[in-house]
Amino acid sequence: MRSSLVNLLLICIFHFGVSNTSNSEKVSSKNVTVHWYFGNETGETVATSNNFNKIFPEEEQVTVVLPSVQEEFDWDIPFARLLPEWRGLDEIKPGAFDNLPQLESFIVIRNNLTEIKTGTLTNLNISHIDLSSNSIIRLQQGAFKNISADLMELDNNQLTEILNDVFENVTIGNLSLTNNGLHTIAPEALSTIGLTSLWLFENSFEEINPEVFNMQELISLNLGFNSIKLLRPGDLRNLPELSELMLWSNELEEIPEGVFNATKLTYLDLSGNKIVKIASKAFDDMPELGKLDISFNNLTRWDNNWLSGAKSIAYISVGYNQITGIPDEAFKNYPGVKSIGLEGNRIRNISNNAFNKLEHVEVLDLSNNEIDNWNPNFLANVSIGIIDLSDNNLECIDGDLETVFRNSGSIYLENNPWNEECYAHISEFIGEDDEEQYFEDYDMEQVPYHINEI
Ligand SMILES: *[C@@H]1O[C@H](CO)[C@@H](O)[C@H](O)[C@H]1NC(C)=O
Ligand SMILES: *[C@@H]1O[C@H](CO)[C@@H](O)[C@H](O)[C@H]1NC(C)=O
Ligand SMILES: *[C@@H]1O[C@H](CO)[C@@H](O)[C@H](O)[C@H]1NC(C)=O
Ligand SMILES: *[C@@H]1O[C@H](CO)[C@@H](O)[C@H](O)[C@H]1NC(C)=O
Ligand SMILES: *[C@@H]1O[C@H](CO)[C@@H](O)[C@H](O)[C@H]1NC(C)=O
Ligand SMILES: *[C@@H]1O[C@H](CO)[C@@H](O)[C@H](O)[C@H]1NC(C)=O
Ligand SMILES: *[C@@H]1O[C@H](CO)[C@@H](O)[C@H](O)[C@H]1NC(C)=O
Ligand SMILES: *[C@@H]1O[C@H](CO)[C@@H](O)[C@H](O)[C@H]1NC(C)=O
Ligand SMILES: *[C@@H]1O[C@H](CO)[C@@H](O)[C@H](O)[C@H]1NC(C)=O
Ligand SMILES: *[C@@H]1O[C@H](CO)[C@@H](O)[C@H](O)[C@H]1NC(C)=O
Ligand SMILES: *[C@@H]1O[C@H](CO)[C@@H](O)[C@H](O)[C@H]1NC(C)=O
Ligand SMILES: *[C@@H]1O[C@H](CO)[C@@H](O)[C@H](O)[C@H]1NC(C)=O
Repeated sequence: MRSSLVNLLLICIFHFGVSNTSNSEKVSSKNVTVHWYFGNETGETVATSNNFNKIFPEEEQVTVVLPSVQEEFDWDIPFARLLPEWRGLDEIKPGAFDNLPQLESFIVIRNNLTEIKTGTLTNLNISHIDLSSNSIIRLQQGAFKNISADLMELDNNQLTEILNDVFENVTIGNLSLTNNGLHTIAPEALSTIGLTSLWLFENSFEEINPEVFNMQELISLNLGFNSIKLLRPGDLRNLPELSELMLWSNELEEIPEGVFNATKLTYLDLSGNKIVKIASKAFDDMPELGKLDISFNNLTRWDNNWLSGAKSIAYISVGYNQITGIPDEAFKNYPGVKSIGLEGNRIRNISNNAFNKLEHVEVLDLSNNEIDNWNPNFLANVSIGIIDLSDNNLECIDGDLETVFRNSGSIYLENNPWNEECYAHISEFIGEDDEEQYFEDYDMEQVPYHINEI
């Protein structure tokens, strides 16, 4: 059973001990012929018009596969395949898959479903429901009833809103609605289903409405690639457990104070917006914050008052903004920070005391800026694992480089317009740096972001 079994699409995996324990007599969408395969292709053909629990054989583990358009399938466990008239399934009739205690996964992806009708999936305790990549435009009220699932995926459909009461007596740990056209979720629609992770990236939300984002257990919220234009104080007030908030690639221009204070956020990603202004106190009182990403925005100024009380901050990424200088004691509020990424800015002017109060930094990335002067005392009091000054406008660095960088592990100085006098001692110094290779392998994303993990 291998290449002849291509084009399979709906997969249901059943637990041990399949039997018709349910008394449901509901009718499935059509009378289909089921061809059972038990490790070979000589299984029997059965006709059914009833609930699927009538046709499950009493096998240790059985997989039911509905033919799909693209999938390849090659499993060595017994499974059953519904014959090809189910290809491009455009309806799941309510009742067909109810009351199936053996059902472990229900996967109907890349079919032609357009609507999930009332009662389509009912009375299931299941690990994974995947209805991604159909053409679903509507979830009727009560589409899902009395279901407990770890993960439900509805990605790549055409949903624009989620109504109240779509989920009745449902508990879902992780819900993914990526890449739909969602702009509206009714208040309460998702409030009572116990979500811990919600993926809503690539949709059309314009705000975080606290009446909608009212989820007492939610830990992770991904709203990347939406159209959110503003954040207001209190927007997160009904997300008391929120730990990760991803807002990359929205349309934010300003971050006021009072949005994030007193949250439990450990990771905040605001990259890829159009942020020109962040209030001095915007990131105050975020005692759990470990990783802050505000790269790829339009900031022109580094504010040394940011992040007061952020005693866990380990990773700050501010690369690819328009920042022109580093002020006095720029990082004074978080002397234990491990990584500061300021690459790709327009930094030219660095205050003599810029790095005061820092203790030990693993990575200080100042590459791709306009630095033309390096005070030999800048790093007198801070030890640094990797400092990257490549792609700047340095013509020379005064002083004995061994002394200037005495507290630094690896120093990157490539692509600067060194003047002739300076070049000899610079290149000698670079030549001595045998850890160059390390930098090429080094990946920002690998840097641990919570201080407690270091
Ligand atoms: C399963 O259901 C069929 C038809 O309703 C019945 O004939 C059969 O005895 C049942 N099997 C078990 C194990 O209950
Ligand atoms: C399905 O099968 C049942 C019982 O065999 C029969 O009564 C019904 O007419 C069939 N329905 C269709 C649409 O073929
Ligand atoms: C196919 O598998 C079934 C069930 O295990 C078995 O009864 C049958 O003999 C097998 N046929 C061949 C040709 O191996
Ligand atoms: C079903 O979906 C496939 C893949 O998206 C598409 O090619 C096909 O035209 C659709 N069929 C119908 C009847 O809509
Ligand atoms: C809810 O579903 C479970 C199976 O997950 C079932 O045991 C229980 O009887 C159902 N409750 C109701 C009220 O139907
Ligand atoms: C669902 O199944 C899990 C084990 O798979 C079990 O721990 C849990 O109690 C079940 N929940 C319900 C509502 O039956
Ligand atoms: C929802 O659950 C409650 C309590 O578990 C139960 O009384 C009620 O009948 C259930 N409703 C539905 C539609 O299953
Ligand atoms: C969410 O999914 C993760 C794996 O992706 C799983 O470990 C976790 O248990 C799920 N959460 C819930 C509440 O089911
Ligand atoms: C958050 O900050 C805002 C503005 O400074 C303030 O009004 C609000 O009371 C603060 N909230 C909490 C919970 O500290
Ligand atoms: C942000 O910066 C980009 C690229 O430098 C620029 O095209 C855009 O006009 C700027 N937007 C704002 C609001 O400043
Ligand atoms: C350089 O920075 C210092 C301190 O931040 C400031 O006083 C000075 O005006 C800046 N100079 C330029 C040319 O920006
Ligand atoms: C380094 O620390 C010494 C002693 O605390 C202090 O006098 C000096 O100004 C500091 N230098 C820099 C560049 O921060």
